[in-house]
Amino acid sequence: MYRIAVLPCDGVGPEVVAEGLKVLEAAADTYGVEYETIHYDIGGDRFIETGEVLPASVLDELSQVDAIYLGAVGHPDVAPGILEKGLLLKLRFELDQYINLRPVKLYPGVETPIRDKGPEDIDFIVVRENTEGLYAGIGGELRRGTPYEVATQEAVYTRRGVERCVRYAFELAQTRTEKSLTLVDKSNVLTYGHDLWQRVFAEVGDEYSQIERDHAYVDACCMWMVKNPEWFDVIVTCNMFGDIITDLGAMIQGGMGVAASGNINPDGVSMFEPIHGSAPKYTGQNVICPIAAIAAAGMMMERLGEVECGQAIEDAVIEALGSGKLGDLSTKSGVSTTKAGDLVASLVK
Ligand code: IPM
Ligand code: MN
Repeated sequence: MYRIAVLPCDGVGPEVVAEGLKVLEAAADTYGVEYETIHYDIGGDRFIETGEVLPASVLDELSQVDAIYLGAVGHPDVAPGILEKGLLLKLRFELDQYINLRPVKLYPGVETPIRDKGPEDIDFIVVRENTEGLYAGIGGELRRGTPYEVATQEAVYTRRGVERCVRYAFELAQTRTEKSLTLVDKSNVLTYGHDLWQRVFAEVGDEYSQIERDHAYVDACCMWMVKNPEWFDVIVTCNMFGDIITDLGAMIQGGMGVAASGNINPDGVSMFEPIHGSAPKYTGQNVICPIAAIAAAGMMMERLGEVECGQAIEDAVIEALGSGKLGDLSTKSGVSTTKAGDLVASLVK
């Protein structure tokens, strides 16, 4: 019996999470997976009401579940940073979810803005380091609001942090057919931090002789992702670059409505979420495509070891997308969030 914490949070989060749970229920029923869900009403509204972002007791409970399923974080009436840092990043850091796994996979029947590229060309996965780098929150300010003000924001890389991420990426590459791993960095400018990444990549790579190693500077990576996405199999990169290139990745795989992710602690509690945000202006309108959140539920089942159940969710997503019944996956598709969820749930086999 798995215990799954559900954190719908802000904006359209609750709507897409409801559809993910609908599909999860269908798949779990079919494959005899037993679970219970524990709902937490944390997020922007609760913060506005009570001033609490992530109470210590909630964090403690979350550290004891089998998995966390999250909607989206960000509220128009809460200053930027409070919920992002106090809730989402705090969970990633405190639960030591040091990998952010983001598949960039174009499913058949989904339109990509890249002319002449299809599902056989766009199928890679980004391993984003998830607990360090610019996200560590190191920095400060001086003389705020004066003409002499100073602001610093430092990137933190530890050998242990980089090594465990790079190793995870090599292990993942080993499970793939192409067996190739690209390090994406800016080592021509970030000659301390990304030099460490380079050295760790070379050292760890020597243990994985079967894996083809490649390298791209992050700016060039953005170019290749559009020009020759078929060159990528597994990409490993730092937190900030991983954040940026996976929004680009989401667009080439059909949009923010389809891109899922997993915040992974290989030895602890992992958390699954769509990579899109809370899209406040669409809250309650039943127009957001829930495919990303549904696919995240599939990733969650796979991570829990319920591989058939996870695969069944992905297969149902693939069939729904291929059926053409989901329209263009945008908010103007004419297919409601609930209709899309119903369709995927009905296709679970
Ligand atoms: C993401 C989001 C978050 C991030 C924000 C909401 C803090 O953009 O998951 O990609 O930057 O990691
Ligand atoms: Mn992002």
